[in-house]
Formats: sequence, structure tokens, C-alpha cells
Amino acid sequence: MNVDALIVGAGFSGAVIARLLAENTKQKIMVIDSRDHIGGNCYDYVNQYGIRISKYGAHLFHTTRQDVWNFISAFGSWEPWEHKVLAKIYPRDSSDNFAYAPVPICIQTIQKLYDSSVQNEEDMRRWLAEETRSIKFQTPYKNSMESAVARFGHRIYNDFFHSYTLKQWEKSPEELDASVLERIPLRYNKDDRYFTDPIQMLPSCGYTGVFKDLLNHPQIEVRLNTDYFQERHCFNSVNFTVFTGPIDGYFASRGLDRLEYRSLRFEEDTFEMGDKDTVMQPASVVNEPSMRVPYTRTVEFKQFLNQRSTHTTLVREYSASNGDPYYPVPNERNTKLYATYQQLAERETEAERRTVLFLGRLANYKYLNMDQAIGNALDHWQQWKKDGMIKTRVVN
Ligand code: FAD
Ligand code: NA
Repeated sequence: MNVDALIVGAGFSGAVIARLLAENTKQKIMVIDSRDHIGGNCYDYVNQYGIRISKYGAHLFHTTRQDVWNFISAFGSWEPWEHKVLAKIYPRDSSDNFAYAPVPICIQTIQKLYDSSVQNEEDMRRWLAEETRSIKFQTPYKNSMESAVARFGHRIYNDFFHSYTLKQWEKSPEELDASVLERIPLRYNKDDRYFTDPIQMLPSCGYTGVFKDLLNHPQIEVRLNTDYFQERHCFNSVNFTVFTGPIDGYFASRGLDRLEYRSLRFEEDTFEMGDKDTVMQPASVVNEPSMRVPYTRTVEFKQFLNQRSTHTTLVREYSASNGDPYYPVPNERNTKLYATYQQLAERETEAERRTVLFLGRLANYKYLNMDQAIGNALDHWQQWKKDGMIKTRVVN
């Protein structure tokens, strides 16, 4: 293969490294992806009704890192967009009088569902203190049920977290480390935005537009429908490889156990609305924490950037144990197993006598937001340069 660098994976991790190589060296770069599109899990497309759909679930860009924003905002075009999410909460009895309440839990959530007199931070602290007064779990909490009930009380725990966790992980919070639900935000103010990062944006021509720009460079060639595991013999002569696919797949021949992932399944419905601005849901994303429905959320893509269409497309998300790898499963088995893979990865360059580097959410077995994936690629690039791993040579 007559290229200087091979990048496996056309998601943010791979595309950012490809771009940095192209701009800073004279190398010829090949980016391959086993899928039939660029963009990795951020890929989106416009459907027959003119609505942009994210194939692998809604993606909202948010970051605190100015360097990440400075880098990525040069590709595609972006507009400010503050994401809001409502949860559909059913009453404890069997009646159908559900209510929509904002998540993360904030003052409006309490007002809507439990106590309309809660108005400010002081009220909120007093209300939560009362709600959790009789709860006597010892710290450190033994599991996520304890850590969540201790913070939120039984009512919020049952309405928002118990069944939702069951649906998401097929495990009850009692079976999950305390840390899993400890990360759930709780606000003592009226900020009902889903994220609080200072930079919150959506790309006007989609993430796919951003990736087209990122990869549009004379030194970069993209080959789709090309699986590294099937074609790796063609690439053995390439001296510099960055692998952003699943690390257990890369080392499959070593006979170790495989890492566990949660996946998602999507179901789509389109409705004719007539009016181009009419939508079906009270928010772009409606979470479904109740057991009354089997899916975890419904996304109405038309609402992102206020798209106009005579139709609207709703996508329901179901958590699944099989399918494309989405979320690493944080438990002791997987943590230990990943550490073993990581050791193999660290020795791979020496073993192969050519540079092989591992980057991204699948290679690092770690959930990364988009800004973290981009930031991680920028940081590694600096490190690799320092370590003398980036050459400027060109193939003749
Ligand atoms: P990926 O995007 O997964 O790219 C890896 C690529 O490698 C894939 O295209 C894959 O096909 C390819 N590949 C794998 N194996 C091979 C092989 N053998 N040969 C060739 N190619 C291969 N982040 C946010 O910031 N905001 C959000 O709102 C948000 N929402 C999300 C919602 C969901 C449902 C999920 C799962 C993630 C969400 N994320 C969000 C995270 C975001 O998707 C990741 O940050 C991003 O995809 C990471 O990019 P990556 O390049 O590391 O991995
Ligand atoms: Na999301």
C-alpha cells in the first residue's frame, strides 16, 4: 500500500488525526472505515422528508475546551443550540395522568411533580433535606440505589432512576457501583438546560458536513466498506497506523475474552403534520424512565435547529445487549480485561517494528463525548510529536 499513514476509523478520533497529519506533514494518508459512510457514530443524513436524522442517536455538541472549539469550528458551519430534555413521568397509580418534567433535576422539576412552592436554592436544599431525612445508608454507599436515594430521596429515585436504569443496563441500581448514579447531575437553581458547558453548538449542515470538510484534503484518501480485520494483510507495510476500532477486535487472535458493550436499537415513525413548523413532542428529546414503555427515549429530530417539514420523524431508542458497540460496561471484569488489552497495545509498536497507536472510544474502551474524542486526538497528536513519532517523509 503506497501510503505513509493508515487511519482505521472515520469517526472524530480518526478524522482529526488524519487532518492534523495532512496539515502538518507531507504524508499521504489513507482513512478506512468498515461502514459505508464517514463520521463514525456521529454520522447523520437528511431523510425523504427533509429532516436530518442521526443514524446512531441524537448528538449534541458541548464543551468547556476552547482549544477543541477553535479546532473543530473551522470545519462545517455551526450554530448555537442549547439542548433541553423532558422526562415523561407517570403517576404511582395506574392512571394515565403523566407529566413532563425537566431533566437534570432542577427547581422546575420539583415544582412540576412534587411541590410548587419550591422557588429558590434555599427552598430546594430544604426540600431535599426533608425528602432524604429518614434515609440512613452508611457511606461509602454500597451501590447506585443507595447513592441515588441518599441524594434524591425515594420519590425522585423511583420516578426517574430505578426503572430507567433497569431498562438502560438490564441491571437494577442495587447491582451497579455507587459511582454510576453518583454522576447524575442535581441542580439547586432554575437552569433547565441539559448541559451547562459555555460552548453548545449544532452543525448546520450536520456532523456529516463537518466530516466532509475535515477529510477534504489532497493528501487524504478515504476508503469506505473496508474492514481492517479482513484487509489487514494489505496494510502490513504501512509504517504508521492509528487504530480507532475496538481493541478486543484488534487483538482477537490472542484468545482473550471479549469486552462487553451495551448497544441500542432504533425504531422510526414518520407522521404527516401539514404545517411545516408543527411538532409532536414538547421537547426534542423525551426520556421515558417508566416501565410502561420498553424504550428509553424518543427523539424528534425536526426540533434540532428548528427544521421545517410537512412531516415529523420520531425515533425511539431501545437499550440492547447485542449490536454495534455503544457503551462500555463499567464493572470489575471489564476493567481488568481492558488493562490486559492495554498492555498489548502499548507493546504493539515494538512487536510489529512499525508504529501502531490506539485512539478513541472503542480502542480505549471508554465513553467519550465528541469534544473529549476531539480533545483526546489533539492531546495525543502533541504527545506523539514530542515523542518523535510523527515523520514528515513522503512516499515516492
Ligand atoms: P466512532 O465514532 O465510533 O468511530 C470509530 C469508527 O471506526 C467507526 O466508524 C467504525 O465503523 C470504525 N471501525 C471500527 N472497527 C473497524 C474496522 N475493523 N475496520 C474499519 N473501521 C472500523 N457525544 C457528545 O458529545 N454529545 C452527544 O450528544 C452524544 N450522544 C451520543 C449518543 C449515543 C447513542 C452514543 C453511542 C454516543 C454519543 N456521543 C455523544 C459520543 C460520540 O458518539 C463519540 O464521542 C464519538 O463517536 C467518538 O468518536 P470515535 O472516533 O472515537 O469513535
Ligand atoms: Na445525546
